[in-house]
Amino acid sequence: MFNPEFFSMDDYSTEDLFSETLVICIVSTTGSGLEPRAMTMLWKKLLLSDLPPDLLDNLCFTVFGLGNSAYERFCWLAKRLTRRFESLGAVRLCECAEGDEQHILGFVSPKFVL
Ligand SMILES: Cc1cc2nc3c(=O)[nH]c(=O)nc-3n(C[C@H](O)[C@H](O)[C@H](O)COP(=O)(O)O)c2cc1C
Repeated sequence: MFNPEFFSMDDYSTEDLFSETLVICIVSTTGSGLEPRAMTMLWKKLLLSDLPPDLLDNLCFTVFGLGNSAYERFCWLAKRLTRRFESLGAVRLCECAEGDEQHILGFVSPKFVL
């Protein structure tokens, strides 16, 4: 039985992530490859170089990116977040996806080139 909770990233404590078992992140890319402002605090903490590689090994995750394929760094933060979660031991629950505001259906194939 799931009891999902929804948070903006700036209302979410990074420490709580260490005890989660499943997260679905929805993340846009702004400023030509930068994280959205609401993600900055969490992203800085996740990028600390001294985090152990098994920190998130209890975590299953997937990421849905929001972006615009007119930009060279399409859904960049979704790609980077996926890579960072995996480098900290988290397991991808299913293929991540990229939403493209240019696309007629608003969604493209969930294939990443990482
Ligand atoms: C200034 C600006 C820069 C953007 N840069 C990128 C980018 O580098 N890559 C990308 O995929 N989308 C980019 N986008 C598109 C946004 O990711 C897209 O509009 C998204 O839906 C914004 O969601 P938000 O306003 O909820 O953060 C950019 C949009 C703006 C306005």
